[in-house]
Amino acid sequence: MPIRPATADAIAAAAAALRDGRLVAFPTETVYGLGADATNARAVAAIFEAKGRPRFNPLIAHVADAEDAARFAVLGSQARALAAAFWPGALTLVVKKRPDCPIADLATAGLDTVALRVPSHPVARALIRAAGRPIAAPSANRSGHVSPTTAAHVEADLGDKVAMILDDGPCAIGVESTVVDISGTAPTLLRAGGVTREAIEQVLGTSLASTIADEERPVSPGQLASHYAPRAAVRLNAAAAHSGEAFLAFGPAAPDHSGPMVNLSASGDLIEAAANLFAALRELDASGAATIAVMAIPDTGLGEAINDRLRRAAVR
Ligand code: TXA
Ligand code: MG
Repeated sequence: MPIRPATADAIAAAAAALRDGRLVAFPTETVYGLGADATNARAVAAIFEAKGRPRFNPLIAHVADAEDAARFAVLGSQARALAAAFWPGALTLVVKKRPDCPIADLATAGLDTVALRVPSHPVARALIRAAGRPIAAPSANRSGHVSPTTAAHVEADLGDKVAMILDDGPCAIGVESTVVDISGTAPTLLRAGGVTREAIEQVLGTSLASTIADEERPVSPGQLASHYAPRAAVRLNAAAAHSGEAFLAFGPAAPDHSGPMVNLSASGDLIEAAANLFAALRELDASGAATIAVMAIPDTGLGEAINDRLRRAAVR
């Protein structure tokens, strides 16, 4: 049984599992999270694999406090004010990543922003401190299922995918955190949640713009403005790259290419491929090639999410 009461011993063991690249479910004041070391791309890929997510949405990195947050992102005056008012608590801030931010590209879907939250739940806070690194964690349910507010919910959905489920009873709030993007010119509400719009507007002294970014709702390719899009054109299902193209390859049978080339996984491992995807797109885009030729990727397991992302990248 992966469920363990959240004793000090269990939290220490969970932190060790996280540092080891494994997944741990843990309680927060909003919902149970499916946690991984946010700086370990393969561990983050395992989150998407476990959830059966058809898409790579950017994840929230859970951090110890505002000073910890400031190691990963630039916190301006609005961020500082919101952090002072609502952290620890059910507010997630989308802010600009620092250039040296160690959080994996896959956790931020290749964006130059990162979503940060300081949870108030004592078990979550103890786990973050014991792990000594930011913890990427979406809600600990399979994609399309409702968010879990007890350890038993998590076990029913993901019991075979996690090293441990830390149990500390039902979540007090029961809905996800409010997500506010303060990385742009106007503070924007991306998701309603545990902290009200009114409370946030009061602290900011201004009203929040809104966008619909519901992860469970199908969004047509390219519609989500907050997705990293390569400058280069993307040519899918390429058997090989033409001269002048950059080449995004996959698997042991990839042909050679004289130009810029990245093999997402020479062994054909889809988890490794997912972990490398955004960094590879960036690298090939930065090569200056007008087109990135992409080999076919199997549409099974994480391949479905990889292909969804590549199709979006191909729409211009
Ligand atoms: O209460 C919660 O927030 C829970 C607990 C576990 O903390 N976590 C959670 O995570 O709900 P998740 O991955 O299900 O939701 C994260 C939300 C998504 O709507 C995602 O699109 C948004 O935050 N998000 C994350 N990073 C973003 C970014 N860089 N830019 C825009 N939106 C971002
Ligand atoms: Mg969720």
